[in-house]
Amino acid sequence: MSKMVKGFSRFTKEEKISWLADNFFQDKEKGKATLHQYLNDDKDLQQLHDEFIENTISNFYVPYAIAPNFIINGKPYAIPMAIEESSVVAAASLTAKFWGERGGFKAEVLSTVKIGQVHFTYSGSKDDLERYFSGVKDELIRATDEITANMRKRGGGILDIELRDRTADLLDYYQLHVRFETGDSMGANFINSCLEAIAHSFKKEGIFIVMSILSNYVPECLVKAEVSCKIESFFPEDPELYARKFIQAVQIAEVEPFRAVTHNKGIMNGIDAVILATGNDFRAVAAGAHAYASKDGRYRSLTHAKIEGGYFKFWIELPLSLGTVGGLTRLHPLAKLSMEILQNPTAKELMQIVAVAGLAQNFAALRALTTTGIQQGHMKMHLMNILNQMEANLHEKELICKEFKGKTISHSAVAECLHKIRTGH
Ligand code: MEV
Repeated sequence: MSKMVKGFSRFTKEEKISWLADNFFQDKEKGKATLHQYLNDDKDLQQLHDEFIENTISNFYVPYAIAPNFIINGKPYAIPMAIEESSVVAAASLTAKFWGERGGFKAEVLSTVKIGQVHFTYSGSKDDLERYFSGVKDELIRATDEITANMRKRGGGILDIELRDRTADLLDYYQLHVRFETGDSMGANFINSCLEAIAHSFKKEGIFIVMSILSNYVPECLVKAEVSCKIESFFPEDPELYARKFIQAVQIAEVEPFRAVTHNKGIMNGIDAVILATGNDFRAVAAGAHAYASKDGRYRSLTHAKIEGGYFKFWIELPLSLGTVGGLTRLHPLAKLSMEILQNPTAKELMQIVAVAGLAQNFAALRALTTTGIQQGHMKMHLMNILNQMEANLHEKELICKEFKGKTISHSAVAECLHKIRTGH
């Protein structure tokens, strides 16, 4: 037995599982059974999942849920969300209802440009490099003609190529900074293929290509979503006070990075859940969103709020590079179904929906934080997780939920209560 292995990728799935069991599982049979339990009986479906990544041994499920009743630009949506964290979907649903009664969400795509770069070094004269670049620029674009043909038919392609001098930051460092329009696809493969063709064509003596890769920072692929209502319809109890507290909470996240990170994390709860449910790349979106939150040198809130002319206004602006074709969006059966539930949106519409999901999540968090506190809602769901962990049956769950209504929930208190029920003491 060895915890190191050669040729693992060539093992069959069963061989991989056996090797794992022999080397890492405490209870081999139980571990194997768990892996098998999560494999799909539908062989074709399992094969599809196996081929998404390498060395697949099972599937890792995440709950798939719906937050209904969103009104975005006057159109109703039920938003699919894939997420393991309790309260996120409930928060989205409640916020959809709240703003649905106040005119719904408005969203608008501000720009859709994506970026890729060829990073290279050059130690000769800058004038010579600039002359060379101007001379070959058209050729560089022509070098991608075959790759861009289909995209151009759909109105996309390369928008421009710029030579950027970055030698002030790093010795001999230059870039070809390329701007793309990729229509309804996220365009990662398209962009990377174009960049590699450009780099190949750009090569000459003295130019040392370091790498060619898209950027997940897309500050020119921006979407804005907002809500607004008359101040008096904000919270009936004391609208002025709650609106002021809410705005202060946003302002704190605009100046205090410790708060801003948590604030934006809450936004990403909504955003990532929709991105995952639609088969998009949530790591790319998260990296780009957090970079955008730091665009003026300090990490800040992605949302903003103000009172203007008797109206409470709350909005988000962030970069989102998404696709509704290509990648897993049509290949993963649930991602495909998510697209259907969202009425087969264009990439621009999906950007709007995702931005709304982020804004809604932040609204729910700030509303709870500035009124009852966050734990009330969280702990209700957390109680269920604790009870499931303790393998409580339905009857025990009912009794304990009743017992803890309005009380502080802790792991030990729940364990004690369950013990009492089970032992009759
Ligand atoms: C928890 O996942 C997210 C929150 O912490 C967000 C926030 O504090 O704004 C509730």
